[in-house]
Amino acid sequence: MKFAILNGTIIDRSEAKVDVEDRGYQFGDGVYEVIRVYNGKMFTPEEHMERFVKSSNSIGISLPITTEHITQLLEELIDKNNLQLGTIYMQITRGVAARNHAFPTEETVPSLVAYTKEVGRPAESLKIGVKTILTEDIRWLRCDIKSLNLLGNLLAKQKAAEAGAFEAIQHRGQDVTEGSSSNIYIVKNGTVVTHQSNNLILKGITKDVILDLCLKNNIPVEERTFTLDELALADEVFMSSTTAEVMPIIEIDGKKVRAGLPGPVTINLQELFVKEIEKQCGNL
Ligand code: PDD
Repeated sequence: MKFAILNGTIIDRSEAKVDVEDRGYQFGDGVYEVIRVYNGKMFTPEEHMERFVKSSNSIGISLPITTEHITQLLEELIDKNNLQLGTIYMQITRGVAARNHAFPTEETVPSLVAYTKEVGRPAESLKIGVKTILTEDIRWLRCDIKSLNLLGNLLAKQKAAEAGAFEAIQHRGQDVTEGSSSNIYIVKNGTVVTHQSNNLILKGITKDVILDLCLKNNIPVEERTFTLDELALADEVFMSSTTAEVMPIIEIDGKKVRAGLPGPVTINLQELFVKEIEKQCGNL
């Protein structure tokens, strides 16, 4: 039997259901996190919890229980579900109330849900890299909030899927923002360049780990907007996310990056990233 968390209690996964008038279901009125689990241990749990609080506060939802309590419940959930390698999905919505766009009364209790999934590391793709496409970024102007409203991201990812690509790289006019579910980086003359963490992208936890690794290993970094031309002329391109880790990009809209081979800076960062995972969660 598998378990899930529903409003502060661990219950049978098949019983974890929400009302049709949950505002997450009707409006996407909530936020979420995806946390990686290696060897039965969460990777960067504090960082995810901090972003969860930040996202929920930014839309006026306060967590019904403390983050310490949530972390303890998640650890229990990992144990009960015997999860070694996978992810935790966690979301909070503004709760159940009669449908009305304006927020419900303060007595409405937010709905907190979490469950686990077994997910392996994308070993083959990490080695050979992935294909991507370009698409205009049509999302709203608060992409820093990890909102349940993902229609723009979904349409972008679907476009990639239909083109046989792994990810869609989004751009606002000439400026590259981020992937449909990842952050995007270019490498030029040894310098790693990635979009600054502002309202136009999600501040990835993996991105933060990567930038920290760059700093500690004297790899020059520029956090700034870069253009489609810079992307086309980059020495290397890669993406990052909780599930994709440091993923080489070897093709963009049918054009090869670096003749279709992952580059040395990307490979170096992959190795440093694995060491960081092993430091926190034990050997892979
Ligand atoms: N997505 N940008 C977007 C739009 C994302 O959805 C994600 C993650 C990231 C990378 O963030 P992180 O490194 O914290 O995973 C950037 C998750 C994994 C998802 O929605 O499944």
